[in-house]
Amino acid sequence: MNSLSTKYMGLSLKNPIIVGSSPLTATLDNLRKCEDAGAGAVVIKSIFQEQIESDASASIAEIQDYLTHADAYGFLEGASKDHYIDAYLALVEDAKRILDIPVIASINCKDAGTWVDYGQRFVACGADALELNQYVVAADANVSGAEIEQGYVRLVKAARKEFRLPLSLKIGSKFSSLANMIRQFDRLGLDALVLFNRFYNPDIDIDTLKFKPATVVSASDEYVESLRWTALMSAELSCDICASTGIHTGETLVKQLLAGAKAVQVCSTVLKHGFPRISEMLSELERWMDAHEYSSIAQFNGILAQERMDDPSGWERSQYMKSLAGVREER
Ligand SMILES: Cc1cc2nc3c(=O)[nH]c(=O)nc-3n(C[C@H](O)[C@H](O)[C@H](O)COP(=O)(O)O)c2cc1C
Repeated sequence: MNSLSTKYMGLSLKNPIIVGSSPLTATLDNLRKCEDAGAGAVVIKSIFQEQIESDASASIAEIQDYLTHADAYGFLEGASKDHYIDAYLALVEDAKRILDIPVIASINCKDAGTWVDYGQRFVACGADALELNQYVVAADANVSGAEIEQGYVRLVKAARKEFRLPLSLKIGSKFSSLANMIRQFDRLGLDALVLFNRFYNPDIDIDTLKFKPATVVSASDEYVESLRWTALMSAELSCDICASTGIHTGETLVKQLLAGAKAVQVCSTVLKHGFPRISEMLSELERWMDAHEYSSIAQFNGILAQERMDDPSGWERSQYMKSLAGVREER
């Protein structure tokens, strides 16, 4: 019997498949389906920074004309100020109550705002860990790349100080020196980096001449970007890497583990094929381990990480040249 167990940000997972933050993890019913299908952990659908920081008094002011009782305003303001965060933390608490697998809470944030003050409440509700999805689309031409990077660092420093539980950061891949940023994040004391988030993209409907959202689900070949950076960085980091985006099959799961990921997150493949996809991927992993005579993940985890390379850019360039030569030979 193979052991599929892995340690991810200090948590013991029975296997490396985590269901990523999405509608798949937004309700207790779905969270239970994730566990029943064999998931090793779940990341609950994110609460947004804007929801945590929402000033309920503004919306209440809009309805105050309807309030006949002078005291009601103060009462309603107090009762609803933390409306979204209360509901979110209750979901995490309920998830902890009904599930045996680790439950990771998630905040979608853009900067180090007042949401950071809520660290203690996340600890109190029993979340096993917290994932920060720092979602910044660099669309403001007045803001330099350096300023954006400083904003990331400020946020992680503030969160690390306040959140006394395992903390991960989920990022996109669009940094001019991604390797340098990954190293900086690692040195800020994070427990894990999730590589990568998949950003919303707009598309155009040529019949209505209007913008529409591009497809929200990933394609099965999108895993290669995460694979590259996991392989390049995993050996030198103190924190764990969780690979994410385009991981649709047991085969891509195996590749990410070979590159050094401690766990992977899945979302699109489960949205497309249903919850049984999780157990199918685990069976594929077990079959591969049997064929290669591995009895535990630890035996092969990270064996293809690009360890201590003197010249990673040179290695990248030589891989590029090899792949072009391969295309020429095929023609
Ligand atoms: C409909 C939908 C909603 C999502 N909502 C969130 C979210 O609230 N927070 C978050 O961190 N990621 C969210 N994601 C991103 C996923 O967690 C994941 O990072 C992304 O889909 C890439 O993984 P995949 O290729 O396995 O889908 C969402 C994805 C989808 C498709």
